[in-house]
Amino acid sequence: MIVKNVLLAIVAATLALAGSPAGSGKWTEVSPSFRVQECAGGKASGDTFTLPKSPNGSTSGAGCSNGHLRAERRYVNDYTSGVHQFGGEFKITSLTGTHISLKQTHGVDITYFMLAVKSNGDIYSIGDGKTIASGVAKVGDTVRINTIHDANKKTYSVYVNGKESYTDNNAPIDTFYDKFGAYTANSGSGAITVTWSDIQFWTQ
Ligand SMILES: *[C@@H]1O[C@H](CO)[C@@H](O)[C@H](O)[C@H]1NC(C)=O
Repeated sequence: MIVKNVLLAIVAATLALAGSPAGSGKWTEVSPSFRVQECAGGKASGDTFTLPKSPNGSTSGAGCSNGHLRAERRYVNDYTSGVHQFGGEFKITSLTGTHISLKQTHGVDITYFMLAVKSNGDIYSIGDGKTIASGVAKVGDTVRINTIHDANKKTYSVYVNGKESYTDNNAPIDTFYDKFGAYTANSGSGAITVTWSDIQFWTQ
């Protein structure tokens, strides 16, 4: 009985940890809906997102006009103000490509923040090229990402495995929404298979 209770406590603690928001203050969990976007050969199957090596030439479908490889969820949580947090974990199960965005905080007019991985496991920001965490996202690694966007104060932070690793104190003004999955930006190429889990959203 004691062993069982200890095990239950460990399971409970692990679940609580997996779903914890980063940062301070009181967070309210929200559950926005999403639309799946598959472009140029990208495939989303549940929480698993796969891009082939190169695009299939098609530009039809939502979010596909630039012909880039994409398999993503576009969340319908559009906001212009308030404080918004995303949390989730990804694990790359195969990767022969590089410069692939796994998480975006997108503006309707501006492509704002794109978190991306390189084939060496670095996580970086596509917009300003800054390295966010070195070598932590190799094939098989589970990486927890939290992003906090204070649209009132125009601040944006990224937490990698619980540690604040990127801050922008001059975020732009726009209407924003969250995306995750896999997307090859200008300099990127496939292939990749990545699985996301423990996806949560909070607001303040
Ligand atoms: C290319 O892939 C997309 C899905 O990502 C699919 O909808 C489209 O039909 C494919 N086009 C061709 C020509 O294979």
